[in-house]
Amino acid sequence: MSRTALATIHLGALRRNLARVRERAGGARVMAVVKADGYGHGLERVARACADADALGVAALGDGLRLRAAGIAQRIVVLSGPDEAGDLAEFRRLELDAVIHHESQLAWLAADRSVSSASGRPLRVWLKVDTGMHRLGFDPRSIVETYTKLRALPNVDADIVLMTHFAASDEFDNDLTAAQIARFDQATAHLAGARALANSAGLLGWPAAFAGSASPAGHWVRVGGLLYGLSVVEGKSGTDLGFEPAMTLSTKLISVKRVKKGERIGYAATWECPEDMPIGVAAIGYGDGYPRSAQPGTPVLVNGMRAAIVGRVSMDLITIDLRGAPRAQVGDRITLWSRELPVETIAAHAGTISYDLTCGMTRRVLFVEDDR
Ligand SMILES: Cc1ncc(COP(=O)(O)O)c(C=O)c1O
Repeated sequence: MSRTALATIHLGALRRNLARVRERAGGARVMAVVKADGYGHGLERVARACADADALGVAALGDGLRLRAAGIAQRIVVLSGPDEAGDLAEFRRLELDAVIHHESQLAWLAADRSVSSASGRPLRVWLKVDTGMHRLGFDPRSIVETYTKLRALPNVDADIVLMTHFAASDEFDNDLTAAQIARFDQATAHLAGARALANSAGLLGWPAAFAGSASPAGHWVRVGGLLYGLSVVEGKSGTDLGFEPAMTLSTKLISVKRVKKGERIGYAATWECPEDMPIGVAAIGYGDGYPRSAQPGTPVLVNGMRAAIVGRVSMDLITIDLRGAPRAQVGDRITLWSRELPVETIAAHAGTISYDLTCGMTRRVLFVEDDR
């Protein structure tokens, strides 16, 4: 057990980040996006920490089921809606909101009879417009017709939320987001209902996406990354943006030895010692979700002091240049990312983004939580 890689989730950081999101959102309602197991932080744990959110956003029905089984009574929005006709009865039983993004879902709703049974409550629907991402959503030209069809269905709640998703809102000078907002506003101009456009980067950089006066029913923001203190802007950390990282990943040093100049370290013998030097081995690898693509030079903290990995990341182990931490010994704590060592720094050394790393923790990692 003592060798186990440890992900410590800071519930205080999650709560304070949610408060920061709400403050920035002005009067807009806040959906805390907890999909992908709360961006790897733990679905139920994050949902409980986000008790003040106006809704929780999940990717699929199964996550809604997990949240209800955990006793979470909050509004839950399933961001890809039903995957098949048979899902609708579950949506109703669990009182989940459904994003409707495709004709097939419309047909299932029109044929659905489950409204007369169970709770009998009409389904709450979020209608998704494809304004330029070309992933999920209806063509803006068909939105009035689709909205009208949905409103006419007795099993659909009259308060339909209109939504779209941005493709490049993290690039604050990219015209695409302004064009997406304009397309959305034009397509929905005569439709009643709240609007939901902004993700984390939308919240930071695109006030027109959530602070406009177009809708008397108000706006929603749907925020994931910033809740976890993850950066959504290239070259910046979550801390740079005024948010607190909610995950610390750490492990222990299980070997320290001196290796001679010219000897090579790890698989494929890719890294050569430039001098006689101490090499540490820490108990974490790609089998835990630490990225195999992390290059030599990727920083770690050894008892709080900065050092760097050398050689290839293997399944269970990483090797560390300990010249900067000469007193390091077996049992010392190694931090892979934390408030002091931004996960964005590791992501940059591994050629990926921070979301990918926190989502990638495997079941071998022991999750604990604290109130920090
Ligand atoms: C539909 C939708 N809304 C909101 C979000 C949250 O995005 P972010 O984590 O960048 O805030 C996502 C995440 O991918 C999403 O797919």
